[in-house]
Amino acid sequence: MELPFGKYSTSAQRTPRIFLLIVLAVTVLGLIPLYHPFNWYPADLVTQYPSEISPTYHAEERKIKIKEPKTCDIFSGEWVRNPDAPYYTNMTCSEIHEHQNCMKYGRPDSDYLKWRWKPSGCELPIFNPFQFLDMVRNKSLAIVGDSVGRNHMQSLICLLGRVEYPVDISDNPDQSFKKYKYTTYNFTLAINWSPFLVSTKEADADGPCHTGLYNLYLDEADEKWTTLIGGYDYIILNAGHWFARCSVYYENNQLVGCRYCGLPNVTELPHNYAYQRAFRTALKAINDVENFKGVAILRTFAPSHYEGGDWNKGGDCIKTRPFRSNETASEGQSLEQYRIQVEEFKVAEKEGKMKGKRFRLMDTTQAMLLRPDGHPSKYGHWPNENVVNDCVHWCLPGPIDSWADFLFHMFKMEGTRFLVEKLQ
Ligand SMILES: *[C@@H]1O[C@H](CO)[C@@H](O)[C@H](O)[C@H]1NC(C)=O
Ligand SMILES: *[C@@H]1O[C@H](CO)[C@@H](O)[C@H](O)[C@H]1NC(C)=O
Ligand SMILES: *[C@@H]1O[C@H](CO)[C@@H](O)[C@H](O)[C@H]1NC(C)=O
Ligand SMILES: *[C@@H]1O[C@H](CO)[C@@H](O)[C@H](O)[C@H]1NC(C)=O
Ligand SMILES: *[C@@H]1O[C@H](CO)[C@@H](O)[C@H](O)[C@H]1NC(C)=O
Repeated sequence: MELPFGKYSTSAQRTPRIFLLIVLAVTVLGLIPLYHPFNWYPADLVTQYPSEISPTYHAEERKIKIKEPKTCDIFSGEWVRNPDAPYYTNMTCSEIHEHQNCMKYGRPDSDYLKWRWKPSGCELPIFNPFQFLDMVRNKSLAIVGDSVGRNHMQSLICLLGRVEYPVDISDNPDQSFKKYKYTTYNFTLAINWSPFLVSTKEADADGPCHTGLYNLYLDEADEKWTTLIGGYDYIILNAGHWFARCSVYYENNQLVGCRYCGLPNVTELPHNYAYQRAFRTALKAINDVENFKGVAILRTFAPSHYEGGDWNKGGDCIKTRPFRSNETASEGQSLEQYRIQVEEFKVAEKEGKMKGKRFRLMDTTQAMLLRPDGHPSKYGHWPNENVVNDCVHWCLPGPIDSWADFLFHMFKMEGTRFLVEKLQ
């Protein structure tokens, strides 16, 4: 059996383990009184970038520009029909991770592929791989975090595949630290594994939860990524699902408590204690990395959708349609994690302003909350494999492809901001 949010491994084979405990973080649900005070982009300022091909995309953008209001929160909206999707398949993209290759493992329905995100007050143009690569010429992007971040990167590679596939220029064979180059565009795309964002030691491969016991040094950012981001133009930070694991927490090198550790005389701390501190530490580290001059994007928590039980209690995600925004609401753990991210983001953004650092929020929580139909469920492996249902990651192709639409828009806005600053 395997954790759906398991290690950053590309192989389906792993030591069988018995999982006893918990995972509040992956029990979804609930409502987010979504407030996005800082994501109001002036959508009518969208810069036009030269594009090599693809006139249809241009036509689409011209059409959209006429109708757009001055400001629009692109992260608040609904999923609407999109007969043109998907934009790749498992035949055209070889970068799909086995566990997210839902078509291969026999997922019978395909309706979940046919949606796009429609913000309430405007349109979010579909990702244009040609324009995107034009925008990121000579630039570099690193995704830092867990396997949902890898899921995101593979979606981006597949979508860009209509133009070009990158070459692997990784410094070592470790799957957790991949680096790719789009040679025609001189664009570097990297992924850095750091599911807790802070320094971590695996104290016990089994532990009381039988999913490993981790020592987390909550006030020390993980140097595996802080030493790498210097020189990057964009980083996208994410973390979430791993904080439900059995962990022992340290601050100032002193043991301060734990989560499900079952150790004598060690205080059990509330679920979000570590989450909040880890984000504070990680975001502060970005402010402190002198040679990081890029844009730091925090991609907010993407909820899982287990129904009828937790991930290890037979829970599954069998819906085949998105929710409308009035049909579900984030609550409990997901809501708390989201709130913490936004709160810590604001603190870091404020500090960053004084230091000339740029922080942006990629607020995907609400959109993903509405996609209970987008997970692999049991279609991330063959039926005879002893793997739990995956309601954490996202099928490729699938709803996570919309993150490229968000990113595309955000990068365009960076171009606009740059122009505005230059004119002042
Ligand atoms: C792609 O999906 C089809 C089913 O739609 C499956 O038969 C095929 O093996 C898959 N190919 C790859 C390379 O994953
Ligand atoms: C690639 O981009 C880097 C900046 O990221 C630049 O220093 C370098 O000269 C570029 N190389 C080519 C061949 O354009
Ligand atoms: C990319 O870098 C090359 C080499 O340094 C330079 O000639 C070219 O103008 C750059 N392109 C952009 C769009 O910055
Ligand atoms: C736990 O604390 C009690 C009371 O302070 C002490 O007597 C006991 O030795 C401690 N146990 C361990 C394993 O540290
Ligand atoms: C949600 O909104 C739609 C469209 O506005 C409406 O048709 C539907 O009845 C609403 N559903 C609920 C559960 O309120």
